[in-house]
Formats: sequence, structure tokens, C-alpha cells
Amino acid sequence: MRSYTLIAPAKINLYLEIISDRPDGYHELAMILQSIELADEIHLQPLSNEKICVNCNHPQVPTNESNLAYRAAALMATQFPQALAKYGGVEITIRKHIPVAAGLAGGSTNAAAVLMGIDLLWDLGLTKSELEELGATLGSDVPFCVAGGTVIATGRGEQLSPLPSLDHTYMVLAKYRSLEVSTAWAYKTYRQEFSSSYLRDTENLAARAAAVHSEEIVKAILKKDPRKIAEKLHNDLERVVLPAYPQVLQLRELFASQEGVLGTMMSGSGPTVFALVESEQQAQAVKLQMRTAIPDENLELFVTRTITHGIQMAQST
Ligand code: C5P
Repeated sequence: MRSYTLIAPAKINLYLEIISDRPDGYHELAMILQSIELADEIHLQPLSNEKICVNCNHPQVPTNESNLAYRAAALMATQFPQALAKYGGVEITIRKHIPVAAGLAGGSTNAAAVLMGIDLLWDLGLTKSELEELGATLGSDVPFCVAGGTVIATGRGEQLSPLPSLDHTYMVLAKYRSLEVSTAWAYKTYRQEFSSSYLRDTENLAARAAAVHSEEIVKAILKKDPRKIAEKLHNDLERVVLPAYPQVLQLRELFASQEGVLGTMMSGSGPTVFALVESEQQAQAVKLQMRTAIPDENLELFVTRTITHGIQMAQST
């Protein structure tokens, strides 16, 4: 039987607007999600028994059922018991490059890669939209990670409309290694503090939001104009995360003061902050300036760029 190695890219949020709370505890969102080159490697090896086993080179990543990649494999085993019996279980080896608990969808992209890898291992022939649907039961960002590219995401983040892809826009990412922000906390706090500003008077809130509120940034993306995109970056969750996490605010302000930075924003619920720049050379210069300003080795800095695809196969043996 074959084994597969998949490349699972991270994402950033170019736009995140919270439209409303929902009866199911989630929030109705309008987001623009963007795949970036920074990626993990996921190796899937068939087993002769029916077990699921996860290994990871990162000490902070759990290898039990609390790992979303494990849950993705368990979901496939439940959905396709005959394939599990025929082909056997799977050993999943994750080589982490994406910072953990960072607002970059690291766990979600690992789960998406496992869904796609097991589809190949078990010869299931699932379509992308079937994989996205399975992904939505694991987490709100998983369908996007299956799809990849540049996408408007509405609903709780699982309803996707692709945009023309935005290639080769360079950026610097900054994250303090020891700092984590709980996504559930960020949304809950936003709901408590700002729910009075929710729109409640339209039938199709998400569609309206995507059409009206994010219109400017969508136009900039259609023009592939990084300067305009950078001007229109938006993330409602900054309203709760920046006041509660001074280190995130500090990164945000420091990026904004750097020469060559077109725009800066926190990704998802943070704590990663990204800064869009004009070129790879600029990105390296901004990274160096940040490192000089904050010599703390706890600060992780990455130069990366936008890409036009999601999960890709690296190797099949
Ligand atoms: O879907 P996922 O498990 O990734 O979401 C993590 C948490 O973020 C949820 O438990 C919920 O508290 C919050 N969330 C939300 N609205 C969304 C997406 C996530 O409130 N649309």
C-alpha cells in the first residue's frame, strides 16, 4: 500500500467581521481567508491493524483525541468503516513549521490534510465539496483549509466563495512563542462587549456583510493591489485581543512604524500579527528591523507570501 506526504499551508485573515451571534453559540462571520506558503508536512502511513496513531515533532502538540488531525482520521474511520476494515488504520506524522495556537489555522490545516490523505489512502474518490463538508464538522476553518487560495468565508466560516487568487504578496509574521489566545474566549468576550453593535435587521446577514462590508477589500483583491489591500485589512477580534494582550498590541504598533510596511493586522483570534510589504527584499528588511527592536528569542518571525492553493501532495511512495 502507498504512503503519502502532504503539504498543509497556514492561513491569514485579510478580513474578519463579526456580524451576529448565533443560537448554536458560534458567530455569523464575513471573512476573507488567504493561504500562505508557511506550511506543515503531514505523512500518512497505512497500518496493518485498524488503529489511528499520531506523532509530532512539536512538544506542545498533543497526539491524542484532542489533536484535530487525530479527530479527522477518527471521523473518516466512522464514516467509512468498510474502507477502514479493507485498508487498515493510519499512522500520521506531523512535522510542524506553523506556530501552534497562533490564529494561523495550523490545527485545521493538519486536519484537512488528513481528510485528503485518507481519501487517497482508502481510494474513496471524495470530491472537494464532500471533504469540505466533512471538515466543517471538525472546525470552522477546516473547509477553507481543504479549499485554499483566496476565499470569502461566511456562516461560521464554512461557507466558501472563491476569489481570484492573490499570488506572491509578501508578508512578515510575528508571534511570541509562549503566548496563546483562546479563540472561544475572544469570541465570547466580543459577544459580551460589543453585541449591541450587531446587525439584526436583515434576513441574510452573512451575504449582506460579504457584499457590503468587505466590498472595498474585495475590489482591492480583484485589482491585485497590495497597497489597497493593506489599507483595507480589518479584524473585529482586535477590539478584544489588543487591549487584553499588550504584547500583541506592541507587535502591531511596531510593525506599523516600520518603513516598507503597507499595512498590519492580527490574524484570526491571534496572537500572530502580520505585516504586508511590497517585496521579499522588503520583508527581509522588516524582519531584521523587528528582530533588532525586540531581541527576545521568544519572538518568532517568519517571511512568507500568499499562495494560490491549499493542501498539496509532496510525495507518494
Ligand atoms: O470551529 P472552531 O472549533 O474552530 O471554533 C473554536 C471556537 O471559536 C468555537 O468554540 C467558538 O467559541 C468560536 N467561534 C465562534 N464563531 C465562529 C467560529 C468560532 O464563536 N464562527
